[in-house]
Amino acid sequence: MTDVLTPVLTDNWGDERAWTLASYAARGGYTALDKALSMTPDAVIAEVKDSGLRGRGGAGFPTGMKWGFIPQDNPKPKYLVVNADESEPGTCKDIPLMMASPHTLVEGVIISSYAIRANKAFIYIRGEVLHVIRRVQRAVEEAYAAGHLGTDIHGSGFDLDIVVHAGAGAYICGEETALLEGLEGRRGQPRLRPPFPAVAGLYASPTVINNVESIASVPSIIGHGQQWFASMGTEKSKGFGIFSLSGHVQTPGQYEAPLGITLRTLIDLAGGVREGHELKFWTPGGSSTPLLTAEHLDMPLDFEGVGAAGSMLGTRALQIFDDTTCVVRATLRWTEFYKHESCGKCTPCREGTWWLVQTLTALEKGQGTEADLDLLLDQCDNILGRSFCALADGAVSPIMSSIKYFRDEYVAHLTEGGCPFDPARSTAWAGQEVTA
Ligand SMILES: Cc1cc2nc3c(=O)[nH]c(=O)nc-3n(C[C@H](O)[C@H](O)[C@H](O)COP(=O)(O)O)c2cc1C
Ligand code: SF4
Repeated sequence: MTDVLTPVLTDNWGDERAWTLASYAARGGYTALDKALSMTPDAVIAEVKDSGLRGRGGAGFPTGMKWGFIPQDNPKPKYLVVNADESEPGTCKDIPLMMASPHTLVEGVIISSYAIRANKAFIYIRGEVLHVIRRVQRAVEEAYAAGHLGTDIHGSGFDLDIVVHAGAGAYICGEETALLEGLEGRRGQPRLRPPFPAVAGLYASPTVINNVESIASVPSIIGHGQQWFASMGTEKSKGFGIFSLSGHVQTPGQYEAPLGITLRTLIDLAGGVREGHELKFWTPGGSSTPLLTAEHLDMPLDFEGVGAAGSMLGTRALQIFDDTTCVVRATLRWTEFYKHESCGKCTPCREGTWWLVQTLTALEKGQGTEADLDLLLDQCDNILGRSFCALADGAVSPIMSSIKYFRDEYVAHLTEGGCPFDPARSTAWAGQEVTA
């Protein structure tokens, strides 16, 4: 069973002090950098393009193509910004990657900066995770001391400085233009596009913004070659990715596998759903991706497969909920998160997420009528696609998808005058652990 896993990014996580330069170098760390520096920057971009790597931060935009958008005839400095904000509920792959193997990211930053001709790169890390910030800072210090950073890297004539920046802890700062605002010292709110960051990003200069896992995948692509990477995954979703299983499985954790693997296989690898229980619903890529059910267990987990099922691959944050979970309560919790994290810039999201919480709270308590379900869907309709950024679209995803698959459970709250999963109200759950 385990031969379906393809540990590349996670391969060294169990090594003794894997986060140190000595440990990383002992496994051939920074040799891909030598190879990249022996190539032209355009050849590095072509290699990443041909590998088929698509952004691992959620949207799946082709990474090499994004790099190719940087106008090299623009005399302004070019910047690489690594998005290490990782604040989506359920998403938990970049933080363990940076803790276990920060040098994979640092090497990826150097190669990627070389490709786009940036002499300054930023790693924007979620502010709350001080331990991660310290670990990446230390890795950057080690890389400077070893000559992997600074001036004339490996005698190539290429110079690069990396700044590790601590965010202030806001989900919206993971949205790439809000992140740039934050980096420039302003309140984190999304920018109007165009201009796109490739043309006018950080300090109005050409900027590439990529997810941690996207950039950390680059050394292995350069080291092994694009064909090796493209030989894994599916036709349009190449390579491997970290699938984060959390919730009601026996062994939650990070499972690195080719894109296109199914949830059934991953749950088997994770020892199955909690004993005595069955899968009820799950998110394919964090709370902003519409939830799915057991009928989707054999769907290929790639961008196309999940899209065809009406959801999104997102960040492969597979949150597993078994039959003890009240879907209305879980959805309310997520909605409260979105209300709290709305940056307030636009009305549909700022006001709308507040109203969503009001309506859902009443429904969860069993107050109201079935017409309130239609009211809730109408509120979603007035938010989806009418807001300034994708945070608001994400906010309505769990609501619309949970009503689609579990309308009966919403109605049961109304007919029973409260949550049917509440042990205090129902004898069905007596003695059982009830979550959410
Ligand atoms: C509300 C919101 C939060 C986001 N948070 C993150 C995040 O924490 N990390 C991330 O890489 N991308 C996040 N994104 C997506 C980024 O805007 C952007 O698409 C991504 O960093 C691009 O990197 P990639 O092409 O390597 O995937 C978020 C988007 C939105 C709308
Ligand atoms: S959709 Fe929400 S988070 Fe995005 S700009 Fe509008 S208020 Fe801010």
